[in-house]
Amino acid sequence: MSRSASSPLSDAVPWWRPDPARTLVIRGGRPLRGTYPVSGAKNAVLPLMVSALLTPHLVTLHNMPASLDVAVLAALLRRLGAELHWSRTEAGLSVTICADQVHPVRIDRELVARMRASVLLLGALLARGGEANLPMPGGDAIGLRGIDFHVAGLRAMGAEIELAGGTIRATAPRGLSGAEILLPQPSVGATENLLLAATMARGTTIIRNAAREPEIADLVACLAAMGASIEGAGTDVLAIAGGRPLGGAVHPVMPDRIELGTLACAAAITGGELHLRHGRLDLLGAAAPLLAAAGVELRPVEDGLMARRAPSGLAGVDIVTRPHPGFATDLQAPAMALLATATGASMITETIFEQRFRHVDELRKMGAAIAVRGQTAVVRGVPALQGAVVSGTDVRAAAALVIAGLGAEGETVLDGLDHLDRGYDRMADKLAACGADIRRAG
Ligand code: UD1
Repeated sequence: MSRSASSPLSDAVPWWRPDPARTLVIRGGRPLRGTYPVSGAKNAVLPLMVSALLTPHLVTLHNMPASLDVAVLAALLRRLGAELHWSRTEAGLSVTICADQVHPVRIDRELVARMRASVLLLGALLARGGEANLPMPGGDAIGLRGIDFHVAGLRAMGAEIELAGGTIRATAPRGLSGAEILLPQPSVGATENLLLAATMARGTTIIRNAAREPEIADLVACLAAMGASIEGAGTDVLAIAGGRPLGGAVHPVMPDRIELGTLACAAAITGGELHLRHGRLDLLGAAAPLLAAAGVELRPVEDGLMARRAPSGLAGVDIVTRPHPGFATDLQAPAMALLATATGASMITETIFEQRFRHVDELRKMGAAIAVRGQTAVVRGVPALQGAVVSGTDVRAAAALVIAGLGAEGETVLDGLDHLDRGYDRMADKLAACGADIRRAG
């Protein structure tokens, strides 16, 4: 998936420009200084965009990140019949989505295959029109990432779902009805899918063991602005009184807590100091004290956080990834890049995804001392990383390698740039504006 191969995207999304660059070239060792604006959250914006399919009225989203995932979902929504109007002001990128017409069968296999969050279309289309016909979703190759929780929850609400030949066919001949659903794990995507569906189902839906990620509270806030009745945002029990007609809404996308944590690591590894505009400590959950213990100082200031390396330097810490408010799995790879040059050892255990150490081999190419046994990586800090030719295999792995490259001696050439572009809004440009020696290259 490359920008150059994505010209249909630039037809659908005016701000998306094909870019032939396949790699990022970083000369490390330059302290980052200045203001880095944290974008709207990648993981919040996708369900928010899908929520616009629930209503024929206008949904306006502000603080939109200009990322490849957003472009792909925008193209998908257009194929489904929605109209999208984009505008850019000093406050950032906004979109107004009008889904007064939705054609549930016209779903594009190539676009769906690019992005796992496209599975959210299932709940929204079933709720809106009683049918969905969707290729199995794609996304990062970081684990099994089944959709069994999504399917079981929607079936409990009365949907008939068939999975065959790489396609999901779902209908709700009698409409969806409220149900009591217990999620086996607090899945973010399943919680969102069921929330979307439940807002239009007859009666009350209770989702137990719901995910508590802040992006879910952001979706609840937008749905509530549309007129939905949802209790329990931020807790593990959500109660949705469904069936109310939904109106339009205007909603600002929450700041991206993963970009925030990643850039805090970048400030610390380079020995610089960044003003992370829009950043908030409360978004980081358990990552805030752990980053502090690792030597990443985060100080609240007006409109954001100041991030820098503590005068005592970087120190090894132990991390176990957990559902929110635990340490986010999406920060595991960037934290590992940071800890690669910390004093002492760190033990990092991944409990959410089973294939989320694919950045380890790449960090080793840069001189990191990391041993993996099962789901645990032991990182022994080395005095410095060295630039190397490395490959980002998923969106967060690519971000971790950018962090490593910024802190390393010499030149790092990172391919897998599309992964970075999927999740981050102009990261290289924003880093360059803070003094990084970083450029996109063919
Ligand atoms: C979302 C985020 C992703 C983040 C992850 C965990 C988006 C677009 N992506 O992904 O960045 O890393 O949450 O915080 O928001 N599972 C099943 N069956 C299911 C659903 C999930 O077995 O039906 C498993 C998954 O394989 C995984 C775990 O549950 O092991 C958590 O996955 P989930 O929370 O659903 O992640 P996503 O929503 O895909």
